[in-house]
Amino acid sequence: MSTLTGASKQITSFSPPARRLMGPGPSDIHPRVMAALSRPTIGHLDPEFVRMMDEVKELTQYAFQTQNRLSMVVSAPGTAGMETAFVNLVERGEKVIVCRNGVFGGRMLENVLRCGGVPVIVDDTWGKPVDPEKVQAAFSSHPDAKILAFVHAETSTGARSDAETLCQYTPEAKSAYPASRGCPPLRSARQPWKRSNPERPSCRAGSWISTW
Ligand SMILES: Cc1ncc(COP(=O)(O)O)c(C=O)c1O
Repeated sequence: MSTLTGASKQITSFSPPARRLMGPGPSDIHPRVMAALSRPTIGHLDPEFVRMMDEVKELTQYAFQTQNRLSMVVSAPGTAGMETAFVNLVERGEKVIVCRNGVFGGRMLENVLRCGGVPVIVDDTWGKPVDPEKVQAAFSSHPDAKILAFVHAETSTGARSDAETLCQYTPEAKSAYPASRGCPPLRSARQPWKRSNPERPSCRAGSWISTW
């Protein structure tokens, strides 16, 4: 018979001290949000939950300035949002142009590989934005690429890439695929990016915002 170790240790509830968090994350939570966390739990099929979810989807569309009805919130760490996006967009054998100028560009590359995609890597120096001309060159060399993946705000270094330009510099693609940590606050809410080319209808669009 095995003996459990540590059984005599007294288990106590955890009371974290109050801290002022100044980093990019985790961050302080507004008291209004903390108060909301103490409200009653309801089921995910409850009509009230569905109503609230529809409202959140609508607000997400506003934040992204999109009419895409597949705008949804994944309640998980940003990494799960990234994985959700790749798993749903990349098909085995598909070419994906992946921009890597920091940790999270590298993570996108891993996602593409795990999905069985064929990455075309556009490398830039860490701390520098993604070079749009390199992206354009990658599309010229790989006109069969279906997706462009880049990190708008590369948290690992603080480099912000010019999402609007990157999207416009890919005239061959119907759309680009911005991976973002700070997308809406960093651009004008009233100027959606131009990204359309009816000749490439097979290109995919998707984006995510992780916590910021
Ligand atoms: C730009 C960026 N920063 C940070 C993260 C990490 O987020 P989390 O720690 O919430 O998984 C991600 C995840 O995808 C990201 O894309």
